[in-house]
Amino acid sequence: MSDLSDRSDLSGASEKEIRRGDFAREKGEVILREHEYDGIQEFDQKLPNWWLFTFYGGIAWFVAHWAIYYTGAFPTDQEKVAAEIAAIQEKKNETLAATLASLDDASMMTDWVANPETVARGLTIYSTYCVACHGPDLSATLDAGGTMVPLPGLPLNDHQWKYGAKPMDVFKIINEGTPPGSTGHNGALMQPWGQTLGPVQVAEVTAYVISRNPEDFPMP
Ligand code: HEC
Repeated sequence: MSDLSDRSDLSGASEKEIRRGDFAREKGEVILREHEYDGIQEFDQKLPNWWLFTFYGGIAWFVAHWAIYYTGAFPTDQEKVAAEIAAIQEKKNETLAATLASLDDASMMTDWVANPETVARGLTIYSTYCVACHGPDLSATLDAGGTMVPLPGLPLNDHQWKYGAKPMDVFKIINEGTPPGSTGHNGALMQPWGQTLGPVQVAEVTAYVISRNPEDFPMP
């Protein structure tokens, strides 16, 4: 039964209610609060400890997780992977720079031309960038239904190497293009492919061209 005269403050418990609640709690009893709104009454119970621990634990976990995750105190998995990839890439670049720095006639043959994978990559590059002027068979001609049509480039299978017959001479003409002062071949110059392809791809395509001319470039 609610005692209307006792409910001076509707938003909180009356003094009588609090006293009664303390007493009941001490005795371990479940108590029903006195107030009643639209026929609804409330129990006045302490939340169980397991519930409180979970609740406060959740708050603590949020703070800890937020601090760890958003302040960047620890790298995320993604950052770890990115850092590892960067380290591997750097190592690769170093190895590559060393390889290119030591690139000479002998290493071009033993490290590049002798490697079938390198030569295969060179063929792909040749088929993409060079075939239009030097021809699929390196003859600088194209078979147009029986008649051989000349292409703008020099033949790469005629055993003549205009700018030098050493492996690095071939690398150089491909990398740097027609040297300044040269009128080219029938007035046609070749562009410096190093600027488009970079040194690695130039070395690979050089290896392919050399591999197609074993008589001119014997293995050391
Ligand atoms: C637009 C046409 C064109 C393309 C594409 C082209 N070249 Fe050339 N290439 C030439 C011409 C023209 C010459 C002759 C240059 C000169 O005499 O200075 C030449 C010369 C060369 C030579 C020297 C040949 C010799 O007999 O001394 C080599 C090697 C060569 N090219 C390789 C390549 C490679 C490899 C590619 C692809 C990355 C390529 N070329 C793409 C037109 C081309």
